[in-house]
Parts: sequence; C-alpha cells; structure tokens
Amino acid sequence: MIPYRILVSEFMLQQTGVTRVLSKYREFLEAFPSMRALAEASVQDVLAVWKGLGYNRRALALRETARIIRERHRGRIPRTVDELSALPGIGRATASAIIVFSCNIPLVFIETNIRRAYIHAFFPECRNVADSDLLPLVAKTLDRENPREWYYALMDYGASLRNVGGNPNRRSAAYARQSPFEGSLRQLRGQVLEVMLALRGADATQVEQALPKPDKRLNTALGQLVDEGFLRERKGRYFFR
Ligand code: ADE
Repeated sequence: MIPYRILVSEFMLQQTGVTRVLSKYREFLEAFPSMRALAEASVQDVLAVWKGLGYNRRALALRETARIIRERHRGRIPRTVDELSALPGIGRATASAIIVFSCNIPLVFIETNIRRAYIHAFFPECRNVADSDLLPLVAKTLDRENPREWYYALMDYGASLRNVGGNPNRRSAAYARQSPFEGSLRQLRGQVLEVMLALRGADATQVEQALPKPDKRLNTALGQLVDEGFLRERKGRYFFR
C-alpha cells in the first residue's frame, strides 16, 4: 500500500477504533489523495473532513507532518523510527507501525492492540504488567519473514479482544482510561471548532450564540484552541490559522 495512506490510517487509529475509522478514512483519502494535496490544504478543510473522529489535534499534526515531509524529506516518508517520531503527532509506536506496514521491516514494538493481545495470551492472571515484560515476547513471536502481515493480524486480533470480557489492558502498568467526553472541555473545544467551521470568522459572543448551549468555559476553550494552533485571534475576533 502507498505509504501516505498508511500514515493517514495510523494517525486515525491512534485513538479511534477500526470500525469508526473505516468510512472516515475513505472520505479523507478522497478529499486529500496525496501527501501534496494534504500539505497544501487549509486547516479548516482538513478539520471539516476529520470532524466526527475527535481528538482534532491529530488532524492538525497530520497536516503539519505532511508539510514537513514535503519540505524537508522531498515528499517521502522517512524510514527510521528516530526521524519519523521527530514529526508532529508521531510517537515511537506510530513510527514503528508506519515502517513495518510500508516497508515490511521486522521492528519490535508495542501499541495498545499488541499490548492487549500479549497480556491476554501470556499474563492471564497478572496485574500491572509492564511493557518491558511484553517486549521480549513480541520479539520472540514476530514473523520476521512477513512482519507486515503478522502485525496486521496481531493488531486486529488485539482490537477484537476489547469486546470480549474485561479489557486485558486494564491489567497493564501503562493503562490510562480515556477521560469521559460528555461535559468535558474537550467536547466544548470540538463544538467551538464546528461552529467556527460554519462561521469562519467570529467573536466570542457569536460563537456562544451558535453553541448547542451556553458554557462558562467558552473563553478557556477559545484560548486553548489558539494555543494549540487551530485558531488565531485579532481584535476580539477568531479565525482559522
Ligand atoms: N488494526 C487495529 N489497529 C491497527 C493499526 N493501528 N494499524 C493497522 N491495523 C490495525
């Protein structure tokens, strides 16, 4: 598969399950079929398509990464974990996955679905299982002839284990629950972005009137969206950057 498509899918799969990602992935590739198309797109065009996946900072980081790859890497995705994980929104697990899937290189790494599969298989009764306990097992079981296929199957298997009985990742030392969405500042930031996509430029009062309901945290949310690089503010009016 084309490395650009793998990059997009791994960004989407960072915090969102496969079923929710699938339709959005197709829509995104239709809107931005190449690294170049994404690098040249505006923040609001990218967000308009990303909308609904949540964790919108990933969209911002993905577009920034596409720009950097165009400008500093001649449009080619770097092939080392160090270079890739230096790009916005890419940690070592995402970097490893991108390299394995695009180059079929047998790297040893752990992400959430891999972690779930190994805890389920090898530590059925244990609590606080550390990634350092899992890594040697990942290394030992890895199919070095065809790591791409191995990891695709492994991650899908790990993802499927989320729905059977208790989530094995609760027994990981690295376990951190996604914080509740309903009523959160994250939810409000998402609503503000949606309003801004419709209004393009607006002051806080206009944004407030367009929200589903008034919220005392609006100025905090707007300030965070400015700090995070989504919006800019000029004379009390907000715009996409
Ligand atoms: N299946 C589940 N999660 C995945 C991921 N991040 N990459 C590829 N396949 C997956």
